[in-house]
Amino acid sequence: MAEQPRAIYLKDYQVPPFLIDTTELRFELGDDHTLVRSVLKMRRNPASPSRQAPLDLHGHESLELCRLAISGQVLSPQDYRREGESLLIRAVPDEFTLECLTRIRPQDNTALEGLYRSDGMYCTQCEAEGFRRITFYLDRPDVMSVFTTTVEADARRYPVLLSNGNPVASGSLEDEGRHWVTWQDPFPKPAYLFALVAGDLAHIERPFKTASGRDVTLRIYAESRDLDKLDHAMESLVKAMRWDEKVYGREYDLDIYMIVAVDFFNMGAMENKGLNIFNTSCVLASPETTTDAAFQRVEGVVAHEYFHNWSGNRVTCRDWFQLSLKEGFTVFRDAEFSADMNSRAVKRVEDVTLLRTAQFAEDAGPMAHPVRPASFIEISNFYTLTVYEKGAEVVRMIHTLLGPELFRKGSDLYFERHDGQAVTTDDFVRAMEEVSGRDLSQFRLWYDQAGTPRLHVSDDYDAAAQRYSLHVEQSCPATPDQAEKKPFHIPLAIGLLGPGGRDLPLAGGATTEVLELTETKQTFVFEGVAERPVPSLLRGFSAPVKLQYPCSRDERVFLMSHDSDGFNRWDAGQALAVDILRELMDQYRAGRPMQLDCALIDAFAAVLDDEALDPAMVAKVLTLPSEAYLSELSDEIDVEAIHEARQFAKKALAQALSGRFERRYLALAPAGVYAPDAVQVARRSLRNLCLSYLMALEQPAQLARARAQYDDADNMTDRQGALSLIAHSAFGAEADAVLEDFYRRFERETLVINQWLAIQASDPKPGALARVDALMKHEAFDIRNPNKVRSLISVFCNQNAVNFHAADGAGYDFLADRIIEMNRLNPQVASRLLTPLTRWRKYDAPRQALMQSALQRILDSGELSKDVYEVVSKSL
Ligand code: PHE
Ligand code: ZN
Repeated sequence: MAEQPRAIYLKDYQVPPFLIDTTELRFELGDDHTLVRSVLKMRRNPASPSRQAPLDLHGHESLELCRLAISGQVLSPQDYRREGESLLIRAVPDEFTLECLTRIRPQDNTALEGLYRSDGMYCTQCEAEGFRRITFYLDRPDVMSVFTTTVEADARRYPVLLSNGNPVASGSLEDEGRHWVTWQDPFPKPAYLFALVAGDLAHIERPFKTASGRDVTLRIYAESRDLDKLDHAMESLVKAMRWDEKVYGREYDLDIYMIVAVDFFNMGAMENKGLNIFNTSCVLASPETTTDAAFQRVEGVVAHEYFHNWSGNRVTCRDWFQLSLKEGFTVFRDAEFSADMNSRAVKRVEDVTLLRTAQFAEDAGPMAHPVRPASFIEISNFYTLTVYEKGAEVVRMIHTLLGPELFRKGSDLYFERHDGQAVTTDDFVRAMEEVSGRDLSQFRLWYDQAGTPRLHVSDDYDAAAQRYSLHVEQSCPATPDQAEKKPFHIPLAIGLLGPGGRDLPLAGGATTEVLELTETKQTFVFEGVAERPVPSLLRGFSAPVKLQYPCSRDERVFLMSHDSDGFNRWDAGQALAVDILRELMDQYRAGRPMQLDCALIDAFAAVLDDEALDPAMVAKVLTLPSEAYLSELSDEIDVEAIHEARQFAKKALAQALSGRFERRYLALAPAGVYAPDAVQVARRSLRNLCLSYLMALEQPAQLARARAQYDDADNMTDRQGALSLIAHSAFGAEADAVLEDFYRRFERETLVINQWLAIQASDPKPGALARVDALMKHEAFDIRNPNKVRSLISVFCNQNAVNFHAADGAGYDFLADRIIEMNRLNPQVASRLLTPLTRWRKYDAPRQALMQSALQRILDSGELSKDVYEVVSKSL
């Protein structure tokens, strides 16, 4: 690398020296290149102290500058200077028009940032800093401008031409076979929300009337072969729009709302104003090709992007350090939406599982950062679980502290006060403070301190005084750049279970009370407690912390069957399973025969027998903690012990409870036409879980049962569930046969074939790496398509621990090679692939050495992108 990339700091923020009132763009899309003409009405920012500052525009190195003029005067090369990503124009008046002509080559753009071609269509991705790959601009979120965009292209190959806002004019250049459409977006927006699409697209359409009676057209575009897979997204969109009107009082504001599905996309989806661009994996859905989990993901992501229209677009971020302002809040909003549409407890279990497994691991690793980072080298590296998921937990804690009514008042104030502005997380918290009269200054530490706080809880009971006391101590481990932490303001929701498992009445007669921790050590006293209670701590996972309380296995079983908090009932089961799995790991390591504690068998039996429980929750309770979660909980990760203990427990449970698993499997057989509704989803999830236990028995009769489910399935959930069990089983010939059959059935369905790749990549049997290597050469694989890279490479490296962490280091070498290759093609995806290597400190010494040398090899491999450089250099 010629020069090491520099970090930028939140503390250096300055208001923009210039503003752009209007932005006129004209795109001439061509096979060899695309011409971008821009006309920007600019003026000095009266709020900026630097009255003489030169004009410093962002522009990626790949931009070819053809012409530059200021208020009609063409500039010559002496009038400006290009340096790295900046175009400096020294002498500019206080107010002027900047005209720019740039040439770009979207067909060669493999980074998928800026304007690129995906399967014969053009589309854009501008967040966070992609617009500077389109033209020279002030590419920062606090510069908001009114955009008018004309797109011109070949009429036959690109009949559909889209941009943000409303279409206002169109025409054709007949002799050339080209046509154009002009779009106008009346809402000022930062460049990261700009979007353009051109292609031969089909669409579905639905009218929508907003609460105040405005008519809106909803449209979802995709390639015509996928036209039959758009209805679920449309229904989800309508539900999300209604929900936002009802729960937040937020209405849609343009005449048209468009979603476009593209196959090549770095992330899930993007909330561009009025023109969302979606990864096909987050919009297409049909019973034959899509699992229940994917149906729910589509619903959640469609809602998420829609909600951004207010939390992100109407009110946006001042700078990228504030990313969680829009992402944390919007994830909280979409989680509440999904909870209202489906099962609240199940949604919470899923979100907390992700947080505790992956976000806690991030918080404990070398890339740990606060919800509002203080610095970064490449902002793309900060679209993280911390900013999104922990950010959402921070908003949830405010919701818990204020209660739903005050929270709504706070969000109303926030939207009203800051409509049309680019603001900070502080502004958000201030609105919440003002409506509630609460002081959240200590609470703000959640935005600035990284790391997962630890709570140590102990209790005592004074029978004579009928007094129960909870002692709580908080601490937070050091993270990069933050050795010492101040105590957090933590809402700790608790209940006390009395005899028979009933909730004792607490303050004000309620059964759950939110204790507020603000000091390092605190004691909470409960009077009039007739018997020693069992505490139910951190109900609903009221704060993103690790809680330790010395709880016996019997107490966990007690909570599992009695806690009135559905989340904690599940969590008690998980804690019991973790405890017992750790015992098995110790036995395995000591070379003793493993023996499963009957407590787990009995607890599972009771849950399986309870027909009154929601089958979806039963499935969650009976799912053993994942290898990834067990790894996160370990000080030193013992890959084999974790895998062996978990496999052993699964088989032992299957043997002890086979009759019950079989009975429920049969009773849950599908009835009626497939629908991805809550009731059916719940039944299928439990039924497939029962099948997974039955398959753990490794009996031919169970194999036949799974194969029959595969053959007879009328939906992808059941078919794929059976497929992955057979593919991962020890029945090699049958595994190959079913994989072959699946490929032939779905050869033309890219997203389904991605699942086929993922199932093979996650097979824990020996030889998985050779298979992944072979699949890289398969016609179904394309290293330029991020979905395929994720399905094959990321799944292997993140969901196949025994193979990826093979003691000879072959998995690490494989990944290092892929990252070096991807670094040139697509830096964002390359950088994300690095995650498992950054965790090297948690492995044994030989693996540590191998992982470090893989990282070093990447660092030494030559020209690294900022993205990869930042993660590798911070990890070593
Ligand atoms: N802003 C998008 C979302 O969360 C995510 C995204 C970021 C997409 C960067 C593309 C690029 O909804
Ligand atoms: Zn988002």
